[in-house]
Amino acid sequence: MTNLIAPGLKRMSVSVTRKMSASLPGLRRLAQDKGLKIHHLGAGYPHPEVTDPRHFLEHEAGYLEHLTQVEGLNDPSVLPENLREAFSYGDTLGPPSTRQVFARVYGNDWNLEMKPDCLIPTVGATGGISLICSVFENAGLPLAYLTDAPTYAGFMARAGLCQQAKIYSVEMDGEGPIPAVFEQQIVAARAAGRLVPFYYTVPDGHNPAGFSFSAKRRLEILEIARREGILILEDAPYLYINFAAPADRQQPFVSLDPRQTVHLFTGSKIGFPGPRVGYLYSEASIEIANGEQASLAELALLQASADILFPNPAAYLGFEALLHEADFSERTSMWPVAEEKLDVYRENREIMLQGFESSLGAYPDLFHWTIPMAGFFSVFTFLSGTIRTDDEFIRKLVTEYGLVVIPMYDFYPPDARIRNPNAGLDQLRISFCFSESAGEQRRKDLTEAVSTFCTAVKHLAGVD
Ligand SMILES: Cc1ncc(COP(=O)(O)O)c(C=O)c1O
Repeated sequence: MTNLIAPGLKRMSVSVTRKMSASLPGLRRLAQDKGLKIHHLGAGYPHPEVTDPRHFLEHEAGYLEHLTQVEGLNDPSVLPENLREAFSYGDTLGPPSTRQVFARVYGNDWNLEMKPDCLIPTVGATGGISLICSVFENAGLPLAYLTDAPTYAGFMARAGLCQQAKIYSVEMDGEGPIPAVFEQQIVAARAAGRLVPFYYTVPDGHNPAGFSFSAKRRLEILEIARREGILILEDAPYLYINFAAPADRQQPFVSLDPRQTVHLFTGSKIGFPGPRVGYLYSEASIEIANGEQASLAELALLQASADILFPNPAAYLGFEALLHEADFSERTSMWPVAEEKLDVYRENREIMLQGFESSLGAYPDLFHWTIPMAGFFSVFTFLSGTIRTDDEFIRKLVTEYGLVVIPMYDFYPPDARIRNPNAGLDQLRISFCFSESAGEQRRKDLTEAVSTFCTAVKHLAGVD
């Protein structure tokens, strides 16, 4: 032990998802000792079948070779510029070419004329969340972070690091955050002397709430945010993991108003999580000290230059390769990239929803599940009032049925659990994105997992 005294420094609590993954090997052994097969309905990871990097690595090598050709280098002893750039100290904004191509392709997909200089590289969406929190925390003022109840565990973990920030959460209905509660929470936070910089949300394929906001609700929330002078921090990892027909896809907040929005793009789901590629995009301008105006992109850039100094240029050039076709011409859209992944997720989603419907559809008074139009999750609710989805219940599902699912209660911020101590305690987050197997075996495993889940919940609810 040293004699350093750090008063005020607190040990943060660990999220239930982390606790689950820590306790899983033990629970798995217990289940396997009973001869039970483990059924994955918990993990929120991209499916291994769509994250095999081998084809991508070939394409990336070809793209870099193509860049060398474009440079006009024929002398193999001369180091190509793209190779030099990939392993050098770069710029906090990352390779300019990647930002320019991304701005065109993403802008085309989401009906937006994107300004490449407003794109700030981040370490995935996680880095984007942290970056924007840091920007506002630097001033040392008491803050209120507005978010949904339930909300993404990673956001709660980051918000929880800042002792002068408090989460003010907003309950949701089937369309999104409830506007009246949204307004009340802003008023309450301001009355408590807190600055409310943004509202953090995941409008498409909400993790963990398992649905996407309606178009109408997005406009209502945007209207309040404009009126109250609050940014919308839009975390968009599942924008392309979208199950709606193209004409029915919702507009993200960034398309509706890039000046009121801070949009977080990540390459983790459309590409690969490992390279940690992401962008924060905003055209917002805010008033800072002494009544000065500052663009949010500029504030984020300054923060990033101290936080990460510069993003990994090789990872960004690899992502740039993904924005090019097989013949290395620039893509006009990322939807064909998404389509390769969507085949698997669409199929898994159908297996889950059809399984629920055929086994549990006859009990609408007992069970409810969300129909996700994007993302990886559905929220399953027990309506009988007799089932409590606490840690003991989760443990029982693993050890008696081999089922791994995530309880919802821990996704409710502390204030929501004070308003309703039972919040989430009748719900589970069911994920349909991950299994250890591929192809036909994946279909069989998921079908079996869903069927085991339905048998278990009927048994536990006393209807078998
Ligand atoms: C809502 C949400 N935000 C952020 C992340 C993390 O994304 P990244 O890998 O880009 O940091 C996830 C991943 O599960 C997520 O669901």
